Amino acid sequence: MPLRPRYTGLIDRYRDRLPVHDDTRIISLGEGNTPLIRLNNIPRIIKKSVDIYIKYEGLNPTGSFKDRGMTMAVTKAVEEGSRAIICASTGNTSASAAAYAARAGISAFVLIPEGKIALGKLAQAMIHGAVVLQIKGNFDQGMDLVKQVGKQTPITIVNSINPFRLQGQKTAAFEILEELGGAPQFHCIPVGNAGNITAHWMGYKEYHEHGIVNDLPRMVGYQASGAAPFIRGKMVDTPETVATAIRIGHPQSWDKAWSVQKESNGWFDECTDPELLAAQKMLTEHEGIFCEPASAISLAGAMKDIAAGKIPEGSKIVCTLTGHGLKDPDTAIKQSTRGVIPTAANLDAVKHTILENLK
Ligand code: F0G
Repeated sequence: MPLRPRYTGLIDRYRDRLPVHDDTRIISLGEGNTPLIRLNNIPRIIKKSVDIYIKYEGLNPTGSFKDRGMTMAVTKAVEEGSRAIICASTGNTSASAAAYAARAGISAFVLIPEGKIALGKLAQAMIHGAVVLQIKGNFDQGMDLVKQVGKQTPITIVNSINPFRLQGQKTAAFEILEELGGAPQFHCIPVGNAGNITAHWMGYKEYHEHGIVNDLPRMVGYQASGAAPFIRGKMVDTPETVATAIRIGHPQSWDKAWSVQKESNGWFDECTDPELLAAQKMLTEHEGIFCEPASAISLAGAMKDIAAGKIPEGSKIVCTLTGHGLKDPDTAIKQSTRGVIPTAANLDAVKHTILENLK
């Protein structure tokens, strides 16, 4: 007898809440079940009495929350007899699609924007054997092309317009509710295509409607200032941000996300690139948590809204960190203050450097 039942992925765990049959062949890499980490130091540093929990989605198998949706989307694609999947991606979806396609033994085609994809994500798509099409255009243009391919070929689209993606991703909300024993007051989350904010709200509402919990959070979605259609109130044609994961001007779940905002009595807000980078650094240096720039916008935004009093002191807040910091090593290295210190290979030199750099 194992001491604890083996964790076999979110479809197995939430089988009764997901559209699978008893004989469905599940394509899983053990995704989900990510840690919910309470911040110890940052509330003290910002001198606010708030309870901030980090849902560390970067610890999914391919390093982002996309795996929650991908296990469902690929499982269903295989069940329906599909031999190939396709997506447009700012990087994480392509990495996840490539991995799950490899696991399933089917082909993956991914369209990525030229020059604007973080190195780790590109490496993942390539090593898993996806066919990587680098287009001379941005994510939104890639998405348009993928939709056209989807209409004209039997290839399954695995972007979040595939409803099974949202079904898988809603399980993150289940996990949060189970772990906290109820809803946080605020759930802060990065917004690109707005699939994830939509999926979380679905999950929260599902547990609420079934009487498993009595409360619901207010959903707060953050966008980078240069790619903020929800804050501008209209599509943005040339999105720009260091947070390449959310460099999106034409969100695919536009209407759904506005409904989330209204139903949950939440709001959308923006953060500048320096603000989100500062939050990324703060998390790494003061909490030991490493996320990619786009993910840090949830904490950057929360800190801003706490300072502005929109999120009152005493609140319980969940911030989703959507992707691991290793996804984007270039930005991480640029962000480090100390750099590397060239040191002679002798004890005196090493001791000298240690003494000079003690905290
Ligand atoms: N955070 C990260 C790290 C992402 O990769 C994405 C989306 C988001 C947040 C936004 O989530 O689109 O559901 O609102 N990345 C997609 C991709 C677009 O292609 O990997 P959303």
